[in-house]
Amino acid sequence: MAWLDKVSFSPRRLLRACTVGAAVLVGSGAITGVLADLGPGGTAPVRPFRLDQVRLGDGLLQEKRDRIKGFLRDYDARKFLVLFNNQAGRSNPAGVDPPGGWEDGGLLSGHWTGHFMTALSQAYADQGEEFFKDKLNWMVNELAECQDAITARMDGELSNSSSSDSSWIPTHPGYLGALPEDTVLRLGPPRWAVYGSSLDNNTWAPWYTQHKIMRGLLDAYYNTNNTQAYDVVVKMADWAYLALTVGDKNHAGYTGNLTRDDLNYMWDLYIGGEFGGANEVFPEIYQLTGDAKHLNTAKAFDNRESLFGAAVEDRDILVVPKNEIPGRGRRPERLHANTHVPQFIGYLRVFEFSGEQEYFEAAKNFYGWVVPHRGFANGGTSGNYPGSTNNVELFQNRDNIANAIAQDGSETCTTYNLLKLARNLFLHEHNATYMDNYERGLFNQIAASRADSESADDPLLTYFQPLSPGSNRDYGNTGTCCGGTGQESHTKYQETVYLRSADDSTLYVNLFIPSTLNWEDKGFVIEQETTFPRGDNTKLTVTGEGQLDINLRVPAWIRKGFEVTVNGEAVPGDEVKPGTYLTLSRTWQTGDVIEARMPFSIRIERALDRPDTQAIMWGPVLLQLLGNPSGGSGSFWELSLYQYLKLDGDYSSAAITQTGATASGDPLFTTADANLKARPYYIGDAQAVSSYFRRVEPKVVFGSLDTGVANLKRNDGLPNYDVPVTGIPSPGIDGPTFLDLVWDEAPFATHDAFVDAVTTVADAFVGAGVYTADERDAIVAKAGEAEQELAPES
Ligand SMILES: *[C@@H]1O[C@H](CO)[C@@H](O)[C@H](O)[C@H]1NC(C)=O
Ligand SMILES: *[C@@H]1O[C@H](CO)[C@@H](O)[C@H](O)[C@H]1NC(C)=O
Ligand SMILES: *[C@@H]1O[C@H](CO)[C@@H](O)[C@H](O)[C@H]1NC(C)=O
Ligand SMILES: *[C@@H]1O[C@H](CO)[C@@H](O)[C@H](O)[C@H]1NC(C)=O
Ligand SMILES: *[C@@H]1O[C@H](CO)[C@@H](O)[C@H](O)[C@H]1NC(C)=O
Ligand SMILES: [Zn+2]
Repeated sequence: MAWLDKVSFSPRRLLRACTVGAAVLVGSGAITGVLADLGPGGTAPVRPFRLDQVRLGDGLLQEKRDRIKGFLRDYDARKFLVLFNNQAGRSNPAGVDPPGGWEDGGLLSGHWTGHFMTALSQAYADQGEEFFKDKLNWMVNELAECQDAITARMDGELSNSSSSDSSWIPTHPGYLGALPEDTVLRLGPPRWAVYGSSLDNNTWAPWYTQHKIMRGLLDAYYNTNNTQAYDVVVKMADWAYLALTVGDKNHAGYTGNLTRDDLNYMWDLYIGGEFGGANEVFPEIYQLTGDAKHLNTAKAFDNRESLFGAAVEDRDILVVPKNEIPGRGRRPERLHANTHVPQFIGYLRVFEFSGEQEYFEAAKNFYGWVVPHRGFANGGTSGNYPGSTNNVELFQNRDNIANAIAQDGSETCTTYNLLKLARNLFLHEHNATYMDNYERGLFNQIAASRADSESADDPLLTYFQPLSPGSNRDYGNTGTCCGGTGQESHTKYQETVYLRSADDSTLYVNLFIPSTLNWEDKGFVIEQETTFPRGDNTKLTVTGEGQLDINLRVPAWIRKGFEVTVNGEAVPGDEVKPGTYLTLSRTWQTGDVIEARMPFSIRIERALDRPDTQAIMWGPVLLQLLGNPSGGSGSFWELSLYQYLKLDGDYSSAAITQTGATASGDPLFTTADANLKARPYYIGDAQAVSSYFRRVEPKVVFGSLDTGVANLKRNDGLPNYDVPVTGIPSPGIDGPTFLDLVWDEAPFATHDAFVDAVTTVADAFVGAGVYTADERDAIVAKAGEAEQELAPES
């Protein structure tokens, strides 16, 4: 993207262009006609709409969103300024305290101010309620004053405050923070401060906090056109450039500019070196200003010593044995999930503005290591396993699902970032799998992360979402990472519903969420009406005229019965493949209607490494079993379900049936075995729930017919853990059972087809030495007798 280097940008000019829509004409002369969009995917073949172009309709997500908007409206914004004012030497109103939690003057202070600005800007973009913009404008203006007051001290201008907090003189101009500049600079040479709580000599993710503040300011600019936020964030970027090149020059031990090795060493420091997605904001500032130094700042964050190269080469080293730690031994054996996921979002942004392919490859490969190899049914990742260091925020070894869920896990802000990464990857490589994963995380862990109750002073968000059986969620999280990202998640539900090709020829309908897209540039309004995921159909009504390809997502979880009509006429079924997009290409007229029916089914998802450890899915929604397992805390519920299946293999007809609904319309289910209640994961309360259960199917049975033969397992084909789990053989000894493999072939068109499948699997088990010929014969004979048993109820 060399053209950016040559062009000098005028922010004011950019703003004027902004008034006509998402597509901004930048520069002049030779590059006239080059379109740029702000934020993720600025140069990608597929691009987002601005948040204010999509309005959310009534439904589950709007309910969640409105609760967090209530918090954003009522929470006292002056609390966010207290610590900044202290550093700037500005006074604070009496009786106003900082938010608390990690936002209490400790070493992570300041990050929540950024999140709150992002959330306010998104809340405003949604319905244009001036209230949110006014609150945001006030914060930005106060922060601008703080930034100016700090920089003014370089010229000997003293603050009016007697507070010793503001006695320090900055090294470089433009710094803004809730802590002294020194808390950032000391991370690097010559001091190499390490993680800890001393305000004098420790550090805690200072660049993570810088990122959050900068992100908040950029979002204020993008979503509300706050040009003061633009000015403040560019000054912060100027400061960051000097901090990461010249560095700590006023320190007595200073030896010169930072080197690549110095930067690598900084980023390898556990938690202290965590920089979040700092590298995502600098390419955006490069796009806005045209100043190439900001792209270099983004690259300064490359984690070159212990991860980046391996990601480019697709060598999964998220967890390594202690004696194989790469680099100078500073990085931990298990990488910290939420430290690294956002780094790869930043690499994508570098790719978008430098065109260097290795940044894209790194992001794509890294994502593939996490999903599916470390992904849980709720869309989350990471956890402990026997023999691992006791920290559930760290990645588990590859392919370890079942043995990493026995304890708390799945940090919410990691899923927030996984969604950002999946979405951003999709902008470049339009693989529907990214959207299947996005949808899973959105309707499960993210939707569930907000309690279904109101509060004016507590965000009521989750940190971990425990996956251990019979555990409950804790809601709160003032001042934490997840309490920050949560404010953002629930105010941007419309961000991925629709995307468009850069040339405006194609509209992607990715998610089934009630919403209205106002696509001014193209002259279309698309209204989507649906109760999804409480209901399983959607209706899109077109206003506007013209040629357009509408790519409608066909979810991978569809089993049968997906139907699309345009103006009541069926689109032929054989064109529809789950896990792809269906292209509806035509010249649309006002009043055209697309309807899609995507029947939900109960699906059983097995853990990769231990298939008897299972989750129940209802369409995109994880169902949780209610209550404490009868075996006591930490044990799993055990269920036998094959006896209830008919030839169609449909669990929802008898094994796990819908038996009611909540007042809000959330479906409630009952299991035939053990009579347990199950409900959608997204319901936000603190009841004891289980996301996983153990499948126990001791005998080969067909309906009520018992073959008298044990339902044995085949353990071949299980993954081999890349790093061992203490006490757990790898591959494990809990492979799929005989009945698992038979029912994997369902639905069966006829009873004969069923008997054929039984015979084939039984023969294979004989071949593998699992069953004797006599056992095989007994099984096949009983299958033949089971015609009545297995006939689906009509
Ligand atoms: C954004 O702000 C600038 C400067 O205040 C103004 O000229 C412009 O019209 C605004 N644009 C929009 C879309 O409000
Ligand atoms: C200090 O007070 C003077 C006079 O009231 C004011 O002009 C100046 O902006 C103040 N400085 C700071 C850093 O608040
Ligand atoms: C770091 O600062 C604390 C006080 O905050 C002090 O007790 C400790 O000795 C210092 N450590 C080092 C290594 O200087
Ligand atoms: C140190 O970095 C600054 C800022 O990038 C640069 O201007 C200067 O030339 C560098 N000095 C050396 C010796 O490389
Ligand atoms: C989409 O991604 C999935 C998962 O990585 C992969 O299996 C599949 O082949 C990809 N599809 C295409 C069309 O590239
Ligand atoms: Zn978190």
